[in-house]
Amino acid sequence: MTTRAFVIGHPIAHSRSPLIHGTWLAEHGIDGSYEAIDVAPDALEGFVARVRRGEFAGGNVTIPHKEAVFALCDEVDPLARQIGAVNTLVMRDGRLLGTNTDYLGFLGNLDAGAPGWSQGLERALVLGAGGAARAILVALASRGIPVILLNRTRASADRLAAEIDGDITVGQLDDINAAAPLAGLVVNTTSIGMHGSRFETFDLDMLRPDTLVTDIVYVPLETPLLADARARGLKTVDGLGMLLHQAVPGFEAWFGVRPQVTPALRAAVEATL
Ligand code: ATR
Repeated sequence: MTTRAFVIGHPIAHSRSPLIHGTWLAEHGIDGSYEAIDVAPDALEGFVARVRRGEFAGGNVTIPHKEAVFALCDEVDPLARQIGAVNTLVMRDGRLLGTNTDYLGFLGNLDAGAPGWSQGLERALVLGAGGAARAILVALASRGIPVILLNRTRASADRLAAEIDGDITVGQLDDINAAAPLAGLVVNTTSIGMHGSRFETFDLDMLRPDTLVTDIVYVPLETPLLADARARGLKTVDGLGMLLHQAVPGFEAWFGVRPQVTPALRAAVEATL
């Protein structure tokens, strides 16, 4: 019988997940499908009931359902709880399990793009305290890495830090140049960089020469932050890999094969940006 998986969202047409999972299904010759399904907020409960009836092995959940689906799961794993969002559903033994693979995507991307990056890393500098920062903070805490978290709005960073079980020091984004030399890793989780926007006050010369710089924005693929870092000879990892790597654990759970993030897959997704 064909094993079915899905991505639900509203809207959903822009999702690149069908391309990623479709490529892996074909590569492994699996009798399976991965369908993008538009589910409006008032239809979420009904859709989850179909999943519970066994129509699907599981699937991905995207905007605007990542928080609402939480309450519809039988079990949500502890890290997804800390992130406060579920992006992956798995049916196991008649129970609906919710997890969040974004933090694994972040770690997998750095592990692939900068092997050994977390060994001996004293501290990371995380910029931004919105929804996207949560998975990054959980990821860094899972590797025991202390974090300096800077945000334009200090109060939201304080709130976020209090919810994450990790060593997090909070500050104002204006203090970025003082914090820069303390970090071996810089992660931009703000929307600065989308549409080519820049950090106006960030002086990248304040970073140590061995600092790794990464951005979770991937449109454009090379954000001004990454371009400036590369121009200074710093190591960089772009954000597209996070999208690709976060898909790995879901595919493995639904279809029973651990897929690879290959250069060909990356090129195929990059061509759609
Ligand atoms: P996401 O879910 O993608 O993280 P978000 O929750 O809206 O989106 O968060 C956006 C982040 O980018 C926030 O940290 C925001 O800072 P504030 O909390 O002060 O709003 C940050 N951000 C967006 N535009 C910014 C700008 N022009 N300068 C500095 N920070 C900015």
